[in-house]
Amino acid sequence: MSRDALMKEAHKARAKSYSPYSGVKVGAALETEEGKIFSGCNIENVSYGLSNCAERTAIFKAVSEGFTRFRRIAIITEKSETSYPCGACRQVLAQFSPGMEVILASERGKRRIFKLRELLPHSFSPQELRADET
Ligand code: THU
Repeated sequence: MSRDALMKEAHKARAKSYSPYSGVKVGAALETEEGKIFSGCNIENVSYGLSNCAERTAIFKAVSEGFTRFRRIAIITEKSETSYPCGACRQVLAQFSPGMEVILASERGKRRIFKLRELLPHSFSPQELRADET
């Protein structure tokens, strides 16, 4: 799927954002290596800390359906500037596909493209757990 088409899916997902507390609507769309698309929105809770970001909604949907290898994720907010995925979402994405592409878009049509490794260098990786094994 093209970057434009993936961003359209993120835009559609953003419309479902449940964000009565922050008022910040975020949408994400994830493309698997197989070409399947999983989208997600942020979901807030009255117990604020239980809120979930759009990116993790999308990735948890994908993994729970058996897809664990990702090509790219598109993320869109309602702001005039693009906004970055939070650190927790970067770490969760890196667990599965550290080489994936991250496409950010703003409501005004601004777009920025990164590799996840640029956004999260030196992530805590599964290798860390094995570091001291002989
Ligand atoms: N949010 C996301 O959905 N993704 C991010 O990467 C950062 C923050 C959401 C969480 C919360 O619902 C709102 O934006 C304000 O923090």
